[in-house]
Amino acid sequence: MLTVAVLISGTGSNLRALLEAARHPDFRARVVVVGADREADGLAHAEEFGIPRFTVPWHQHESREAWGEELGRQLAVWNADLVVLSGLMRLLPAGLVAALSPRLINTHPAYLPEFPGAHGVRDALAAGVTETGASVIVVDDGVDTGPILAQERVPILDGDTEHTLHERIKPVERRLLIDVVQRIATGELSLTSAP
Ligand code: GAR
Repeated sequence: MLTVAVLISGTGSNLRALLEAARHPDFRARVVVVGADREADGLAHAEEFGIPRFTVPWHQHESREAWGEELGRQLAVWNADLVVLSGLMRLLPAGLVAALSPRLINTHPAYLPEFPGAHGVRDALAAGVTETGASVIVVDDGVDTGPILAQERVPILDGDTEHTLHERIKPVERRLLIDVVQRIATGELSLTSAP
């Protein structure tokens, strides 16, 4: 059984989908801990599913490195096989990325390498393109530049707002994330040999 730590900042809808998938006996991964950089609403999903949770508040640390060191200490307690960034809206410091790599993946609401960064949905709308997408990648030391594990296109519709478009992307992200985690768990997908 693959053990998974999930890090969030927001509502944790993708986290919840993973928790629900993990209830299925055929799913080969289990979430063992959920961490956040703030008192994220999504921590409530962990509580509901009886999963341990921790918070390493960004604003209580004087630098990204200090925050990352504490995050690394908390993660080390659980020693999960895989760390999933599921809406964590902070860049991890390079030292922590190196320590967790390559067993560190991220979901992103755009068709990378298009529209990386914190505003992938807003940036796609602003660019006036007709389609965007969702991606699951291995985290490297760039901003959303790591090897792509799965991605899918999502059309942009007339009248879409950042909210409506993001809400249409998220179900695609969830499906991709669950599939990638299951394929890592079964050995079908090897992170060390990711393209
Ligand atoms: C997701 O769309 C995720 O891809 C995005 O935040 C959302 C979190 O939603 N992450 C990024 O944009 C990272 N650059 P959730 O909290 O409802 O799962």
